[in-house]
Amino acid sequence: MSVVCIEFKPGLEGVPATQSSISYVDGQKGVLEYRGINIRELAKSSSFLETAYLLIWGNLPTREELENFEHDIRYHRRIKYRIRDMMKCFPETGHPMDALQASAAALGLFYSRRALDNPEYIRTAVVRLLAKIPTMVAAFELMRKGNDALQPRDDLDYAANFLYMLNEQEPDELAAQVFDVCLTLHAEHTINASTFSAMVTSSTLTDPYAVIASAVGTLAGPLHGGANEDVISMLSEIGSIENVRPYLDKCLQTKAKIMGFGHRVYKVKDPRAIILQELAEKLFDKFGYDKYYEIALELEKAVEEKLGGKGIYPNVDFYSGLVYRKLGISSDLFTPVFAIARVAGWLAHWKEQLATNRIFRPTQIYTGEHDVSYTPIQER
Ligand code: CMC
Repeated sequence: MSVVCIEFKPGLEGVPATQSSISYVDGQKGVLEYRGINIRELAKSSSFLETAYLLIWGNLPTREELENFEHDIRYHRRIKYRIRDMMKCFPETGHPMDALQASAAALGLFYSRRALDNPEYIRTAVVRLLAKIPTMVAAFELMRKGNDALQPRDDLDYAANFLYMLNEQEPDELAAQVFDVCLTLHAEHTINASTFSAMVTSSTLTDPYAVIASAVGTLAGPLHGGANEDVISMLSEIGSIENVRPYLDKCLQTKAKIMGFGHRVYKVKDPRAIILQELAEKLFDKFGYDKYYEIALELEKAVEEKLGGKGIYPNVDFYSGLVYRKLGISSDLFTPVFAIARVAGWLAHWKEQLATNRIFRPTQIYTGEHDVSYTPIQER
């Protein structure tokens, strides 16, 4: 007889849905670890691709393993002209996350073989997805402006190449370095909504391109990755330091959420927000101030006073937008940039899931009626 858990937890809050050794969050102390290594240490000493390797294969690569991984990704960055042509047909008014979801799914048309028991297939899928997703994000950005997409530059590292493809010029060294750290910070975060979506999809043993496409769709919502874009609109709407407290009071009265604050797990300031704030300040020192920063600082102070008692503090999305603005990234690309990084985490969970797979098939508590008779249409 099957055992049915009858306690219903909306949003599955606190319900373990898997066992995982990929990452760990202590929401009370504000700690995030990837494979046991503190995120601050990785932000300081690692690179995004080394971190991606760590997440996906479970160990830091040797120099040779890292060089091979980086080499393979560098030479898989190009996308098929058919994918570029397909993307040219997307409406330029479409959201870049929708463009990314469609493009990620389209990769499956070219590369899906569902050879999930073949380690070489797994490795190549990992390489292709990490390599091609940034190219597709940058391509859509140029195409919607009416320009041709740029080919990736083999002489540039992962982060620098993305900024080059996006802004059509080789980035400043600090900008590329800061962007690489941003990718590391966003690479993985336990079993959040998009990762769960990836896991549910992968549990059916479909191909990895469908797994990533479903996760991209889930990340897009404003309660998840989409919040970083909304933070900038909110700061723009607030407009001045003087307006911070009246704006906050209005949100509290109407029970509107303050974007970039609060987290299901963190009840203190998100450790990634702390590092992102430091990165933003580094960029302001070199490239000039952003007036939204002082509004953000005042808002953080005011929210802490009013909502700190409830454990509501800045999350990862609060300061990331200020960093991306300085890097010349438009605000509707913030979430696609988040996706570029999170592909690493999604793939790590995909690979972990495959090792002990069982299809996700939860139960429900039925609240409808029984034995209802069918009413013919003419009698309704
Ligand atoms: N502004 C105002 N009140 C808030 C906020 C906020 N940002 N976040 C939570 N609360 C309040 C909420 O009103 C509720 O109060 P009460 O118990 O009095 O009704 C309480 O805190 C619990 O909120 P919840 O929405 O039930 O908490 P949750 O764990 O379901 O939601 C969250 C977590 C991230 C969806 C939520 O904090 C939120 O909507 N934040 C704003 C959107 C945002 O910044 N999202 C990015 C999340 S982090 C990165 C990512 O996941 O991509």
